[in-house]
Amino acid sequence: MSEPVVLDIRNLQSYFFTAKGQVPAVDGVSIQVPAGKIIGIVGESGCGKSMTAMSVMGLLRYPGRVVGGTITLDGRDITHLKPKELSKVRGNEISMIFQEPMTSLNPVYPVGKQVREAILLHQKVSKEEAKKRVLEIFRDVGIPEPEKRYFCYPHQLSGGLRQRVMIGMAMVCRPKVMIADEPTTALDVTIEAQILRLMKKLCEEQNTSIILITHNMGVVAEICDYVYVMYAGKVMEQAETFELFEQTSHPYTQGLLKSIPKLDEKAERLYTIEGVVPNLLHLPEGCSFCTRCGQAEKRCFVEKPELYKKGDGHGVRCFAYEGGGRLETQESLPGGA
Ligand SMILES: Nc1ncnc2c1ncn2[C@@H]1O[C@H](COP(=O)(O)OP(=O)(O)OP(=O)(O)O)[C@@H](O)[C@H]1O
Ligand SMILES: [Mg+2]
Repeated sequence: MSEPVVLDIRNLQSYFFTAKGQVPAVDGVSIQVPAGKIIGIVGESGCGKSMTAMSVMGLLRYPGRVVGGTITLDGRDITHLKPKELSKVRGNEISMIFQEPMTSLNPVYPVGKQVREAILLHQKVSKEEAKKRVLEIFRDVGIPEPEKRYFCYPHQLSGGLRQRVMIGMAMVCRPKVMIADEPTTALDVTIEAQILRLMKKLCEEQNTSIILITHNMGVVAEICDYVYVMYAGKVMEQAETFELFEQTSHPYTQGLLKSIPKLDEKAERLYTIEGVVPNLLHLPEGCSFCTRCGQAEKRCFVEKPELYKKGDGHGVRCFAYEGGGRLETQESLPGGA
């Protein structure tokens, strides 16, 4: 069976128009998010993960701009909504959690009241009712002594509790999609595991879909249903999580997975992919990964590969898989419940 797609990003292009030239931060990205599923986006720093998220949220700022493609949420095109319409969608139907909650929470306002404001902004309820809901949500996200925490200022809470407040805030209106951009990188590993488990639980209970942006392949393996691997503004490989780990196909994904430390292997040194991410202003003429790829052939330096189909829902942007033909963007993803 397959799940209906809630958020459908097609051929998204977001460029920055700088004095030095056009920076193609997001260059033809298509991502399908089925209902109630967790989609991972991985890739090295600067590959366009956050800018993809910011484009979907309508939060790209000058000199950045969406220049192509469509973003459809539950059948509605939200690519170029006016700010007023967008603010109704944001926080209500789709919400976002950022890496460092200190930057998204107002430091001079108690956290409970901030979440209450989020409720009042989108729902017609009394202040008392809204406060009751905040306390319920605080309980749901595992904040101990909610009545006491309600009046705390952000700096009075630990990093883990602040991130729980942010998750509560993001879930408050039961959004269809929640985007979490590195939600746990600032936390220690035990708290990270708790927060991720919490997100997964909420996602299952409320049928909310999650886009999880992360550097951490371990996290992907644990909680994502489907994974997109990005490099220099493009999706290089996409597949169901199990398939991605079992049938790792793109040399870039192979490199990323090889760089994870393993307990049972005594490697002399941790593997790293040689070279650096190319400057987006001076991308190679061919495949953007050719300068670092151990398997690159002549053609890879002059021709750009498409996303080719390796298996069901498995796409690889590498000429080695050209035989499978182009991967078509699907209306729904295989392998759902
Ligand atoms: N204000 C800006 N002006 C010009 N280019 C920008 C600007 N902001 C971002 N970019 C470009 O967008 C690219 C993608 O950035 P993005 O923040 O999406 O990367 P990321 O994958 O989220 O990285 P990280 O893992 O470090 O968060 C950057 O490499 C940079 O070239
Ligand atoms: Mg980022």
